[in-house]
Amino acid sequence: MDLNKIRNDFPVLKNDNELAYLDSAAMALKPRCVIDAVNDYYEKLGCNVHRGVYQLSYEATDLYEAARETIAKFINAKVDEIVYTRGASASLNLVAQSYGMNFVNEGDEVITTELEHHSSHMPWLNVCNKKKATLKFIPLDEDRRITVENFKKVLTNKTKVVAITYVSNVMGYITPIKEIIELAHSVGAIVTLDGAQAVPHMKVDVKDLDCDFLSFSGHKLCGPTGVGILYGKKALLEKMPPIEFGGDMADTVYMDSMTYKAAPFKFETGTPMIASAIGLAKACEYLESIGLDEIKAHENRLKNLAVKELKKIDGITIYNESCETGIIAFNIDGVHPHDAASVFDNQKVCIRAGHHCAQLITRNLGTIGTIRASFYLYNTEDDVNRFVKAVKEARDFFLQF
Ligand code: ALA
Repeated sequence: MDLNKIRNDFPVLKNDNELAYLDSAAMALKPRCVIDAVNDYYEKLGCNVHRGVYQLSYEATDLYEAARETIAKFINAKVDEIVYTRGASASLNLVAQSYGMNFVNEGDEVITTELEHHSSHMPWLNVCNKKKATLKFIPLDEDRRITVENFKKVLTNKTKVVAITYVSNVMGYITPIKEIIELAHSVGAIVTLDGAQAVPHMKVDVKDLDCDFLSFSGHKLCGPTGVGILYGKKALLEKMPPIEFGGDMADTVYMDSMTYKAAPFKFETGTPMIASAIGLAKACEYLESIGLDEIKAHENRLKNLAVKELKKIDGITIYNESCETGIIAFNIDGVHPHDAASVFDNQKVCIRAGHHCAQLITRNLGTIGTIRASFYLYNTEDDVNRFVKAVKEARDFFLQF
């Protein structure tokens, strides 16, 4: 990977050489080609899709639908298995509201984990409460990982849904998902996968995984905000009812009856996020041009380097040393993560602190929050050094009190 070239592609980094941006798990920075694709749409087209009976709108529609094809290829899906949503949270909620509310019944079981982001756990807690189904949790192992062995302990013939993360946004652990999917299918359950922290960082192939649903966001993938993707197997999307009505999804509408379009369009109401979808497709192409395997290896190498240095500092607790992605979850002993974060900010080191919208795992760790540093393709060893220096300074600063 040519890091100088990559950093030059990102205006935020080009404009500020001293910035150590280690918050890509919350939001990835945007490369110039994505910004250009978004601007180009607004400058050259700027009109609606699917509606206009004029050349400009046909061109916008072509671009918007071509983006769907690019995104489908990125995860090895078919184009009609790709639903545009507002983000991963909206995708995960769509599955729960449509599939869960209609195909989960009293006495059924839904399996999830304490490693879930709230957007993966809460929609199913809601479904289970409403449908009188049971929500079960895979016990985590001593490192707080999901294991196949522990999954087997909670899987039964009553299991209807497994709602599970592919990569934890707090711990960065990769779930052994292929085996879990195979086991879930053996009892007739479907698997809805939260891929928000996986798809931007590693090659994800939905056909190879055989997952039933996969949700992810554009903004963590170097794409724009306000766009996400729900991948769903065609047969499942076909039998699921829409959860929102109006706009483009309508087919024939009468005073007392209505029909709507086939999937994926039946799930897409109103004017869509046209520019963001086009930008997301460009981001997929950009990441592919660099190589997902290379990106994953790069992030993990920087993470390991940083962990090695952190371990030399007294008074630091690292929660996920064995993590195989680019995330470090840690605390400075006795210091509130938000207080530590403000010292980091003085050093121009951007990290996230708190419960990361995942209170279950934070509670399981026995802490009020963690500091999270997350590496991506544009980070360097220099960023690691700045980060380690900031940790030392924060630790020394708070030691005085
Ligand atoms: N879910 C995002 C994160 O982990 C925002 O930071």
